[in-house]
Amino acid sequence: MLENLIAQPADKILALMAAYKADPRDTKVDLGVGVYKDASGNTPVMRAVKEAERRILADQSSKSYTGLAGDPAFSDAMIDLVLDGAVARDRIAAVATPGGTGAIRQALELIKMAAPDATVWLSNPTWPNHPSIIKYLGMKMFEYRYFDSETRGVDFAGLIEDLGTVPAGDVVLIHGCCHNPTGANLTAEQLSEVIALLKSRGAIPLVDIAYQGFGDGLDDDAQATRAIASSFDEVLIAASCSKNFGIYRERTGILMAISATAEGQPLTQQTLAFLNRQNYSFPPDHGARVVTTILTDPELRADWEAELEETRNGMLALRQQLADELKRLTNSDRFSFLADHRGMFSRLGTTPEMVEKLRADHGIYMVGDSRMNIAGLNAKTVPILAKAIVDAGI
Ligand code: LMR
Repeated sequence: MLENLIAQPADKILALMAAYKADPRDTKVDLGVGVYKDASGNTPVMRAVKEAERRILADQSSKSYTGLAGDPAFSDAMIDLVLDGAVARDRIAAVATPGGTGAIRQALELIKMAAPDATVWLSNPTWPNHPSIIKYLGMKMFEYRYFDSETRGVDFAGLIEDLGTVPAGDVVLIHGCCHNPTGANLTAEQLSEVIALLKSRGAIPLVDIAYQGFGDGLDDDAQATRAIASSFDEVLIAASCSKNFGIYRERTGILMAISATAEGQPLTQQTLAFLNRQNYSFPPDHGARVVTTILTDPELRADWEAELEETRNGMLALRQQLADELKRLTNSDRFSFLADHRGMFSRLGTTPEMVEKLRADHGIYMVGDSRMNIAGLNAKTVPILAKAIVDAGI
């Protein structure tokens, strides 16, 4: 049986992680996978997470099953963090999932059950695992223009033109904030236009929000998701706690599914619980419990928010330093987009050949589409990267 298997394509981001590990050069710089690193290259456990874990260790008296949807307190806390009352609670069904990827997977499975013929529209480019999972599930997908490779901003005219052709009932995947892989984001005015257009088309939004707190702040980063959630009858939202709580390996995420009415919610909730049962039964609890402990304790929450702000401001400072250094070296504003982008990533906008040259000549690892993880930099490696970019003739 197993000899019938066909080798599957390697995930580009994870393959890059392995290649970086295997590189013996001590000058190498990892700008690959989306993991936050501090100035010493460590991915720290956040203070509030450590304290929440200490409390859980001391107080938890049972490891028995929770519910198929996970702990309801986790859903309540996350719905509050992401939506902050933008939608009546009784319209929202929610399940805990293994990370944001689990939430995306469950959202797609839900779409497949409810609308097997729906096409899922993806921004071009998007996180590579989006099309990969859609293809794996045998669903239909289509791309809408998103990135302008000249300005390295959003190709808004192209986006509007493409989304203007979405048929009623199709699903449009929108990055809630900190677009992955480009770092280019819609303004509030542009988002309003997109919402009006998609409403007029009868489309259903699927929001992927994996970096809340990494762009302009916890609340600002949720504004697009809240505006979408309050504008449509039906919305799906996949949220991740991997990055903003720094609990990557705990696999902590949530899928929220907003029904048109409170009367529709129980059927959606029951279906989501069914999907959890089919795929992995009870979702992981530890990370979710850590998140709930932090979000429901004012002191822990304040400390978490403060550390998240330090992280965010650190990334913004690195962006600015890189843009300034490139301005100095090129005597131009060609790279000013790096300071305008938000979140963990920026797409440099160069060819795979140049990306390979940076890796071979300088040990700088970025994804083949020239996505850089800004958090992989520090004050010392920024000038090295800037010089390498200029030397390569990018
Ligand atoms: C990324 O885009 O690098 C992260 O979301 C990690 C992953 O799972 O790909």
